[in-house]
Amino acid sequence: QPVEDCGIIVFGASGDLVHRKLIPALYGLALRRLLPPRFYILGFARSEMTDEVFRERMREAITDAHGEQPADTLNAFLAMCRYTSGSYDDPAAYEKLAGRCSVCDLDFDSSGNRLFYLALPPELHPEVVERLAQAGMTSEGQDHKPWARVVFEKPFGHDLQSALRLDARLGKVLAPHQIFRMDHYLGKETVQSVLMFRFANAIFEPLWNRSYIDHIQISALESIGVEHRGGYYDKAGCLRDMFQNHMLQMLAITAMEPPISFQAERVREERTKLLRSIRPWPEDDPANWIVRGQYMAGPPNILPNTQTGTRTAHSALPDYRRERGVAQDSETETYVAARLLIDNWRWQGVPFYLRSGKGLQRKVSEIAVTFKRVPYSMFGMTSKAQMPANVLVLKIQPDEGIDLTIQTKQPGPKSCMSSMSLSFKYQEVFGVTPPNAYERLLLDCMQGDRTLFWSSEGVEAAWRLIDPVLDMWRRRPERCPLHRYPAGSWGPEAADALLVNAGHRWRRPP
Ligand code: BG6
Repeated sequence: QPVEDCGIIVFGASGDLVHRKLIPALYGLALRRLLPPRFYILGFARSEMTDEVFRERMREAITDAHGEQPADTLNAFLAMCRYTSGSYDDPAAYEKLAGRCSVCDLDFDSSGNRLFYLALPPELHPEVVERLAQAGMTSEGQDHKPWARVVFEKPFGHDLQSALRLDARLGKVLAPHQIFRMDHYLGKETVQSVLMFRFANAIFEPLWNRSYIDHIQISALESIGVEHRGGYYDKAGCLRDMFQNHMLQMLAITAMEPPISFQAERVREERTKLLRSIRPWPEDDPANWIVRGQYMAGPPNILPNTQTGTRTAHSALPDYRRERGVAQDSETETYVAARLLIDNWRWQGVPFYLRSGKGLQRKVSEIAVTFKRVPYSMFGMTSKAQMPANVLVLKIQPDEGIDLTIQTKQPGPKSCMSSMSLSFKYQEVFGVTPPNAYERLLLDCMQGDRTLFWSSEGVEAAWRLIDPVLDMWRRRPERCPLHRYPAGSWGPEAADALLVNAGHRWRRPP
């Protein structure tokens, strides 16, 4: 599908997300010649700044992310960037913005198509969209020509009620096809490739159910702490920041039924259906289902460099409660592990274990599927219980790829067995690292393809699951205590207890 000419209007343009993710991704698209021929970027934020100063900041963001760039490529990109300032609650600022957009539409000959990107705290979303609408900027032409689309960064609301309220307000000024709820995990090449893996190969899907799968572990582990986002994170916590969105989307993609086509609505429906079939966590005995933790100061983190084989010491993280922007007596969780069950025919009785956290030993995101053991061992030296299970690991990041462990015979006259791995490494096969998730998702917004975005029904289903946990933590914190774990570890030991009864263990990423 061609990318139509358009302008992207970035709210929160002086913020961190724009610096670290958005502008580098747009520049990445420019490098790969994927931006439309007639295109502009108009930054909007409270700080006053000239176009020149904005361009200098964008230059910095690009070189921070991509390293030094050829001057002509970089300057051509920066020539498409402009800026205007204003207060998010001031109608006059939107009139001024509308004027600047019209000038840019003409100057860049971009057909009047506009993508509004809200890189703003979620509490500002409804007001900004309503003011955009009042200033006439969200109206579309006949047959959506020109179009107007709005991209929302997660989190979508703070809990179920606020998400429903947000949705109702958005629904008054935007049509569903104009709304893009962004979850950058869905833009990761390796997350999308789970769909290809499952539905473009005939050999795995017949095994993808309760008859052959013993359990599934989904992990998104990070070694960094909250860095400079303490103020936001301390109010959100890991359950809202990672679980309600990225973790549940990875689960949905892993466990959903095959959609009837690869069309946005069909794929989104199946993801939502899956989220709706997750069994709510029981209110009694919550600690047996969900564990929360918070990192304390730890020793320097020794990280292996997989490229060079060396190990580097990274400076130790401070105690979470000493991070900037974090309350000294904070009870906010930086780690969550959960066991959950899916109530449908395919998955009845199969435990899914999910965990995510910061301040952990290493950054690893993966989906590990452990199959059932052989029903009987004919090899005298190995009983059925000793025979290792086949494990399929979909490696989301880093070392993107797929590993499948199988048992083989060791060379020699004796019947000795050993486990080995069939391994596909993205970098080795394709010779490149996977493109940045934001690039893919921005392109999809410009093409109007909502397949990899949250639907409002999906958001609601996710909050219906998460909300009771937040509520229980608030009302009865003693029933699900906060476990402190040293930074640089694999999280609180209490998380192991979630698996022990079923005879399972958390995987230690290699
Ligand atoms: C973001 C969270 O959505 O995802 C961050 O807000 C987290 O807290 C980040 O660090 C992780 O993304 P990735 O792509 O680095 O795994």
